[in-house]
Amino acid sequence: MSGSLFRLENSWHPIEGDEGGGFVFTMVNLSDHPVSDFKLAYTSLTRVKDAPACGNARFLRRNANFHQFAPPEDLVLHPGEAWRFTVQGLWRPARHRTDGAKSAYLTLAEGRHVPVTVDDLLLEGGRSEAAPKLLPEGRLDQPFFMQPWPVKAELQPGPALPVVLYPAHGSMLEDMRAVEAVNQLYHRLFAVAHQPFCLTKTADARPIAFTPEPALGKDAYRLHFGETITLAYGDAAGRHYALVTLAQLLFGARQPDDRFWFPASGLIEDCPRYGWRGCHLDVSRQFYPVSAVARLLDIMGWLKLNIFHWHLTDDEAWRLEIKAFPPLTTTGVLRGPDEPMLPQLGNGAEPVGGFYTQEDVRTLVAHAERLFIEVVPEIDIPGHSTAILTALPELADGQEAPDSYRSVQGYPNNALNPAIDKTYDFLGTVFDEMVRLFPSKLVHIGGDEVAANTWMASPLARALMEREGLDGTFGLQSWFMKRVQAMLKARGRQLAGWDEVSHGGGVDPQGTLLMAWQKPEVGMALAEQGYDVVMTPGQAYYLDMVQDEAWQEPGASWAGTVPPHHTYIYEAEGDFPEALKPRLKGVQACIWSEHVLSRDYFNHLVFPRLAAVAEAAWTPKEQKDWLRFAVLAPLTPKL
Ligand code: ACM
Repeated sequence: MSGSLFRLENSWHPIEGDEGGGFVFTMVNLSDHPVSDFKLAYTSLTRVKDAPACGNARFLRRNANFHQFAPPEDLVLHPGEAWRFTVQGLWRPARHRTDGAKSAYLTLAEGRHVPVTVDDLLLEGGRSEAAPKLLPEGRLDQPFFMQPWPVKAELQPGPALPVVLYPAHGSMLEDMRAVEAVNQLYHRLFAVAHQPFCLTKTADARPIAFTPEPALGKDAYRLHFGETITLAYGDAAGRHYALVTLAQLLFGARQPDDRFWFPASGLIEDCPRYGWRGCHLDVSRQFYPVSAVARLLDIMGWLKLNIFHWHLTDDEAWRLEIKAFPPLTTTGVLRGPDEPMLPQLGNGAEPVGGFYTQEDVRTLVAHAERLFIEVVPEIDIPGHSTAILTALPELADGQEAPDSYRSVQGYPNNALNPAIDKTYDFLGTVFDEMVRLFPSKLVHIGGDEVAANTWMASPLARALMEREGLDGTFGLQSWFMKRVQAMLKARGRQLAGWDEVSHGGGVDPQGTLLMAWQKPEVGMALAEQGYDVVMTPGQAYYLDMVQDEAWQEPGASWAGTVPPHHTYIYEAEGDFPEALKPRLKGVQACIWSEHVLSRDYFNHLVFPRLAAVAEAAWTPKEQKDWLRFAVLAPLTPKL
């Protein structure tokens, strides 16, 4: 027979007196053969504790999201039969259909691994619900398509829709190149759409007269609409943004209804609210091919986002080719049943890998530059380092007790050790290669979620604490971070990190940028300590969070439910006093990939919220309009 041979169904139910509730699993044998003496593995973000109570199964092992069980010893599962078992002792209750098994496989008695299909986690007793409505109908006060909305738009719509726009006679080569770059962006985003620009005069086309005006500031522009469109710009970035705005106006006016028009006359004056308009992408939990990253950059360019924070490493994989350490992208990326790193987060019977060669990185950095996007690379240290330590086990303290601490994601002993000289040799070499690849002045070194008792069972770390008078895990972390900061400085780079970099004494705040992710109040506290801050609170800007409380809505919920409306109206400045506002550099969406098992999941989770963050990053508060956003957002190009 063809198709799936085994299927695992799962449901969750609350249990009085046990907050985590329980799972019921049923595995159906669709093959032509009986199976016995097998093991079943599944990956699930709702993890079991160390000794779960099982009914009709034996718990074998768990590593982070990887779980393995065996049936009762005498069980023979004949074709068409189902094996049902229960599991209790979960770290937290399930809340959504994506909280159960994301993948599964069987290991047969002879050692072969066989795929098992899985599907949604069902809620026992749950009733069928209509999909939640994430956007209202919306309302347009002005019939124009611009995303994000500009600072000032005083426009009169006209029935005449130019076929294309073109650089007026006398435009400079650089103006023509800028036009062509936006033409190409448009072409990539909307492959079958009519081009917005020509480089030469064409019938029924409207000319753009370019006028540099440095006093505007580098990102700013002004557009006057008439027979000729006058485009004044501060610098190349402003010119680019103005052209994107023109392309968007045409895009709207060409929609097959008359909601949007092209301006016949009027004025746009525009510049971004924040200098840091970021989008982060976690490529460790799931690998995104170069073409997908390039398309995300294109979407960012369309939304005038200007920082791509590339989360290249995590426990689950190291994705950046480092010539000096090949194992990072051989051993350090492969997750599979017989690999040193076990399947996680949707992996099954087949090993899964993927990494970016240095040539890929150069291609993507150049692609981003053409869109006025800076690429800020992240290697997440000292925690979140399972992949590094798997690839380079010599970086661990051999005397440290195994499983002496676990990260919040359940990884044992997953931090680089600050007391080992080789740690710094390794990082120095990695930084040397990184600064040759990434022109950004910032290198993001993570710094998040080092577990509270990390290194306390490492004799080397203990000796370092003694010698330097350091106080516990976070004293060690601060000592490590300061050393890393000096290493970056020696290479002409500044340190960026997550908010916990400030713990245990932190680092020198001068030139250091930290991202407030845990909750909004953290941002202000960091600014008070003298750090530059980017606001990326999970409660508003983590795009992996569910968008509605409905069980059927996919995503994570540990930071709460994040409907698009909340993402849109959230004001990062919050209660920042005037004196601290200069420290607030901007805002950023974070795309964590634990739940991104496919492009469809990506699009469901990321849109429309990425456009909401883009508007929060660009548009002044007074110009934000949720109902207008609701009309425009469905037209944002997707991955
Ligand atoms: C994070 O979400 N751990 C930065």
